[in-house]
Amino acid sequence: MEAKTVKVRVPGTSANLGAGFDTLGIACSCYNELELSLHRDEYLDIELQGEGAKDIPTDNRNIVWRSITRVLKKAGVEQEFRGAKLHMTNGIPLSRGLGSSAAAIVGGIKAANEALGAPLSTQELLELATEIEGHPDNIAPALLGGMTISTVKNGHPETFRFIPKLHFKMVVAIPDFYLPTKAAREVLPDKVDRRDAISNIGNAAMLVAALLKGSKKFIYNAFDDRLHQPYRERLIPGMSDVFKEARTAGAMGAFLSGAGPCIIAFTDNSEEKVGTSMISAFADHGVKAEYRIFSLDRDGAVVIE
Ligand code: HSE
Repeated sequence: MEAKTVKVRVPGTSANLGAGFDTLGIACSCYNELELSLHRDEYLDIELQGEGAKDIPTDNRNIVWRSITRVLKKAGVEQEFRGAKLHMTNGIPLSRGLGSSAAAIVGGIKAANEALGAPLSTQELLELATEIEGHPDNIAPALLGGMTISTVKNGHPETFRFIPKLHFKMVVAIPDFYLPTKAAREVLPDKVDRRDAISNIGNAAMLVAALLKGSKKFIYNAFDDRLHQPYRERLIPGMSDVFKEARTAGAMGAFLSGAGPCIIAFTDNSEEKVGTSMISAFADHGVKAEYRIFSLDRDGAVVIE
């Protein structure tokens, strides 16, 4: 079998969107690019530039390479292709709650699958990537684009993907510290109060309905969460004030992006004002941050060359 050189682009993603803990996800207009050439010899050449380049391993611990090897194995060609040349240009901030690990996994499996002539279906890619990451909430939008609702039944992820009717931009406040997901999950309780669960079910359902229908009226309270954000606040100084200031500046609402520390505000006007207010609220708590404005990515992982 011959393998062709391919270049893919994968979006950054935000999970949870407030109440949809471990379930909702959205793809954003910031990207990693990856060029892959598979080799028959056992050698690995990984070149990296952009976000986190100095912190990412370039040997066989690399998550992109490890994901590629999972596709090679599933396609039954791991003995045929034992090495690769990889060139990555990363635009997704690392360990900030913007799906950098999901993008690495999806980039690796999408590129490897395309290089081999697409032996695996999109559903098989979703399953494989979810198995590697452990949960589908960032994987699904990274692979499919748009907004996603993901569940896992007997270990199998199921995803409903849609494009919201409501128009908005995402203003992303990016603090200048890393927060590993593991640390942000360790502060969560194992059991939750029934009233908190009911509140989240209502808000997550309301958010999806409002986005699908384009109904702005119902969105203002739909980002409120009681299952993870309150517990994570101590890891993200100023979180509640950043939410508050984003709203005062005109945002529809704000939430912790994934496990944090980034905070995203949805707005259909005054993006700069919302961004500046969020940064200034972080600064009041001694946190240095910058902001970027993202749109919805509709495409997910795509081959660009
Ligand atoms: N849903 C996950 C969390 C996203 O909030 O911990 C991070 O991978």
